[in-house]
Amino acid sequence: MASNTTTADTASTGSASTEPILRVNDVTKTYGEGHTAVTAVANASLAVKEGEFVSLLGPSGSGKTTLISMIGGLLTSTSGTIELGDVDVSTLSKKDLTAFRAQRVGFVFQASNLVPFLTAKENLVYVATLRKDYDRKQASKRADELLGELGLSERIGNLPEQLSGGERQRVAIGRALMNDPDLVLVDEPTASLDTELGRQVVQLLAREVKDRGKTGIMVTHDLRMVEYTDQVFEILDGKLSAEGTGKEKAKSH
Ligand SMILES: Nc1ncnc2c1ncn2[C@@H]1O[C@H](COP(=O)(O)OP(=O)(O)O)[C@@H](O)[C@H]1O
Ligand SMILES: [Mg+2]
Repeated sequence: MASNTTTADTASTGSASTEPILRVNDVTKTYGEGHTAVTAVANASLAVKEGEFVSLLGPSGSGKTTLISMIGGLLTSTSGTIELGDVDVSTLSKKDLTAFRAQRVGFVFQASNLVPFLTAKENLVYVATLRKDYDRKQASKRADELLGELGLSERIGNLPEQLSGGERQRVAIGRALMNDPDLVLVDEPTASLDTELGRQVVQLLAREVKDRGKTGIMVTHDLRMVEYTDQVFEILDGKLSAEGTGKEKAKSH
């Protein structure tokens, strides 16, 4: 196991499992070739357990999106391995990656990227239709439950343009959880929100990850958000380092 793979003993995972479910081993991503080549992520290693929510800090251009895109199977690495449970993501074919993303990964991006002509509920149900075992009734029930949990019961029939920024981001969280993924990957979810709303969204994410036993990674450049996470990683010029627990890091700020 890579040397900077830390196990945060102090993190309260509340989960029985102690073995990391996600293992990123010595992963590098180089865009382009020759003199224009850019190494966006260099030999990154990290491990995350079930029920753990970790943050990934770093300035713009440091490689955050590249790293979580590889973890979520949106982008292939140049070298290294990424394992989720017993699946080595780096060896999956294009077709298998599509199924992997649809069934095991939930993404929440900076902009909520909701489908503009579908209601809040339809945005959730839509992702369920991507599953092989799609069941319309079940999907409808699950969408109602999730939106209720996210405080959006009154908004299920609204189009994205009829929702506030915070509400849209909550719908995006619901959509990410819709297929009951093992991995929840979040890229700067608070970028378009004010501090208080951002805090609420991150707390909600942290709770969903814990209560549902997911594994969560949140990219942020807002140090105030790390206190809701168990472990903190920082990436600078593509180089990843472990920065301790969220509480420690938040205090040191
Ligand atoms: N598709 C791409 N082609 C070439 N270079 C890219 C591509 N995507 C990102 N990069 C470069 O890789 C580096 C890391 O980018 P990114 O992962 O988006 O950083 P962050 O999310 O931390 O802002 C930057 O130098 C960026 O310009
Ligand atoms: Mg980014």
